[in-house]
Amino acid sequence: MSTAGSKVLVVGATGAVGGALAGVLHGRGARCAVAGRDAGRLAERARGWGGCPARVFDAYDMDGCAALAGWAREALSGLDAVVTAVGTVAFGRSEDTSDEVLEHLVAVNALAPIAVLRAALPLLPEGGAVAAVTGVVAERPMPGAADYSASKAALSAWLTAVRREQRRRGVHVLDARLPHMDTGFADRAVAGSPPPMPPGADLDAAVRAVVDALASGAAVVRPGTDGGLVTEARER
Ligand SMILES: NC(=O)c1ccc[n+]([C@@H]2O[C@H](COP(=O)([O-])OP(=O)(O)OC[C@H]3O[C@@H](n4cnc5c(N)ncnc54)[C@H](OP(=O)(O)O)[C@@H]3O)[C@@H](O)[C@H]2O)c1
Repeated sequence: MSTAGSKVLVVGATGAVGGALAGVLHGRGARCAVAGRDAGRLAERARGWGGCPARVFDAYDMDGCAALAGWAREALSGLDAVVTAVGTVAFGRSEDTSDEVLEHLVAVNALAPIAVLRAALPLLPEGGAVAAVTGVVAERPMPGAADYSASKAALSAWLTAVRREQRRRGVHVLDARLPHMDTGFADRAVAGSPPPMPPGADLDAAVRAVVDALASGAAVVRPGTDGGLVTEARER
């Protein structure tokens, strides 16, 4: 998929990662439609991305999540890719974490992105792509964030299975297992406080890697052994 001229829905464009993704895609000539929860921030950002189509949604509105791809396809007169960067986190030992917190994490980090991407699949052409920002915790679950790790692993497992399902159709499925970045995400935890964190990885480099991976039809972006990101064409 060539990024220039492609039509891309970015869900969670009000966030740090989602906003940076939409910015890079717009800068490389993609036509974006964007969705986010915060109406004011979404409208302001959409103005900066050429006045692109924008739609407010909430992760708890599953029908609203599922409607986003169809809306974007109509607004853009076509749709080549959908990226979700929606998410929230909680910290604390698992015996101190409530089931309500787990329910919230699963709703925002797994159920909502899955609803968005599931509805997008039949709308995408051969060579199209769906992508989600999961997190390195999907493959390396983090003590003190067991419920967050489990919610991200659920989304990552779904992406892995769907990638195999979509192979014949030629729709690519990208799992962006990004490392910690200093976006303030951890400080917005819905429960608990973050443990001391190492310096965050570079947001711009991570986002460029995700956009490159989307364009190349790659399967996974993950941290490599040297601290940088590696892109894998296929799931290991
Ligand atoms: N930052 C990191 O270190 C890091 C590392 C690996 C993976 N990730 C993942 O990257 C994604 C984005 O993180 P970020 O750093 O950009 O954090 P962020 O700035 O806090 O962005 C979070 C995004 O999720 C949206 N969101 C949260 N709850 C929602 C709800 N109930 N309904 C709809 N949207 C909701 C936010 O919408 P509003 O702003 O409109 O409320 C925002 O767009 C998350 O999935 C996170 O797990 C982050």
